[in-house]
Parts: sequence; structure tokens; C-alpha cells
Amino acid sequence: MVHYKDLGLSNTRDMFKKAMDGGYAVPAYNFNNLEQLQAIINGCIESRSPVILQVSKGARSYANQTLLRYMAQGAMEVIKEAGSKIPVALHLDHGDSYDLCVSCIETGFSSVMIDGSAHPYDENVALTRKVVDYAHKHDVSVEGELGVLAGIEDEVSHAKSHYTNPEEVEDFVKKTGVDSLAISIGTSHGAYKFKVKPGEEVPPLRFDVLEEVEKRIPGFPIVLHGASSVLQEYVEIINANGGRLEGAAGVPAEQLRRAAKSAVCKINIDSDGRLVVTALIRKILKENPGEFDPRKYLGPARDELKKMIIAKNREVLGSADRY
Ligand code: G3H
Ligand code: 13P
Ligand code: ZN
Repeated sequence: MVHYKDLGLSNTRDMFKKAMDGGYAVPAYNFNNLEQLQAIINGCIESRSPVILQVSKGARSYANQTLLRYMAQGAMEVIKEAGSKIPVALHLDHGDSYDLCVSCIETGFSSVMIDGSAHPYDENVALTRKVVDYAHKHDVSVEGELGVLAGIEDEVSHAKSHYTNPEEVEDFVKKTGVDSLAISIGTSHGAYKFKVKPGEEVPPLRFDVLEEVEKRIPGFPIVLHGASSVLQEYVEIINANGGRLEGAAGVPAEQLRRAAKSAVCKINIDSDGRLVVTALIRKILKENPGEFDPRKYLGPARDELKKMIIAKNREVLGSADRY
């Protein structure tokens, strides 16, 4: 057993309390490789933002679970060397089984998500409770989910979303003992969140559902998945350099700002980072057909990703300059 505290990591308890009191959201960025981790860590050191490093089941099998864990451990050393005091959580994104959550907790994760949202309510409660009982023995935070987001949640694909039913949240939180709750208010995963024609506005998120949830569990940390804005400047670079992303649309920054000021304490961002990296690599390789040193295209992609992360922390989530 490697305990996260020995690695210098934090669980999400104090992070969320500060975020709730301060009216901002902690960013949760997914990573799968070295360059993404460098960009996240250096971007959050520079903007003095707390951060949740998210690892999906897919990331664990892509990058090797042991290597990923040591990378996160290495990131903590880099933060120390930089003299930074930002808190960092290592979090399992969309855990789909008790055994996966246990395996992460035993190897240094400070937070896990058990996503039982595809199961009937009672099964979701039972599975989540079981994970909480184990996690809390080790002071690890647990995120549960109620309601289903359309799109792909790590290898599980849902054709249609259904919004969280506010009437269930109080009972769910009480019975499971979770530390935070992901809800469905109209976002979805990936780059195609809304079907809109060019120039058309995307439909607003269901803030009425969020408000109903807040009324029933006041002060309880809420999590927003599928929260990429699908930044159009990068979609355009991709399309201008041989890519084809038609009708890609995400959550406008103003709506995320509004969510961050509410009980939403954690905002998940993966797709925006993917777009930045793909845009830069496509552009550089098209402009420099003779280039074959990966550092020459991965390096600028990483630097642009760091810029995007600093901008999100400062201008959208409000998590900058907190530490
Ligand atoms: O919610 C899903 C995240 O964007 C992770 O995606 O399962 O492809 O790593 P992934
Ligand atoms: P996006 O696809 O909007 O970046 O959402 C990521 C996410 O929710 C990870 O759990
Ligand atoms: Zn998600």
C-alpha cells in the first residue's frame, strides 16, 4: 500500500471547502502522457491554482498504471522544487468498479470517482457505499454520480442524457457518504456537446436543476463533467490543417463562470486540452514537412496547452492566485 500522503498529495476535502467559500471551482484536468502532465503542473504552479490530476481507466491502460502513478509522484517533486504550495489531488476519473477504485487507492490516489450512474438507483447506492467505506478508511475522497451524461464516458457510451433528479440527491448523499456529487445538467463528454448550425447559440445549461440540487443539499460540493468549451480557435486551426471537425461545440465560458460561483467545486476538462495539442501538432507538421523530432511539435503543443490552462484558471474557473 502506497498512501497518497506519503507522496505529498491531498484529498479534495480542504480544496472543495476553500472553493465553496471563495466562489470558484477547482480544475480537474485529464492526463495521459508526459507533455500533458508538464503543461498542467507548470500552468497551475504559474497561476497558483489548486489542481486535480485526473486519470481515466483508458489513461491507465494507455500509459501503464505504474508509470502514471510515478509521473504524478514526480510532479509533486517538481512542485516542491519550484517552491510552490499548490495542493494536488490524484483522482480516478469514471471508476466503474469497486476493484478499480481499491487498486487506485492502494497505489497512491487521493480521490476516486465511482460512476454508478448507468446502474439502477439502488445498485448505484450500494456500489458507491461500498467504495466510500473502503476509501474513507484511508482518508481518500469519493465522487459519485447521479444522472447520465450523453456521449462517451470512458468506454461506456450513452446515446441520450437524462438530467439528475433533484429529488434523489439528498437520499443518495446520505446513504452513500460521498464527498462530492457529479450531476447532469446538459453537458456531455467530447467535442460535440450540442447540435447547432454555424453561428447558432448553444442551449443554456439547466441551472434550474442545479439550483434545485443546491436547495436540497446546501453547501455540498457539486462536480461538472463534460465542461470543455470546445475552443473554436483550435477547432479552426485543426480544420485549416487537414482535420475535419464539423459542428464541434462546447459549454460557453460565461456559463462555466456562473457554475464556478455556485456549489460547483470541480470542473472537468479533457477535450479542450486534446484540441489544443492536436491543433498545434497538425499546424507544425503541415508547415514543416521535413520535421521528425517529436520535441519540435510536442514541445510547442505542450506550451500552448499550458497557456490554455492558465487562461482557464484565471478567466473561467477563478481558481488562480489562491495559494
Ligand atoms: O470522461 C472522459 C474523459 O474525457 C476521459 O476520456 O476515457 O478517453 O481517457 P478517456
Ligand atoms: P470534456 O470532454 O468536456 O472535456 O469532459 C471531460 C470530463 O468530464 C472528464 O471526466
Ligand atoms: Zn467525465
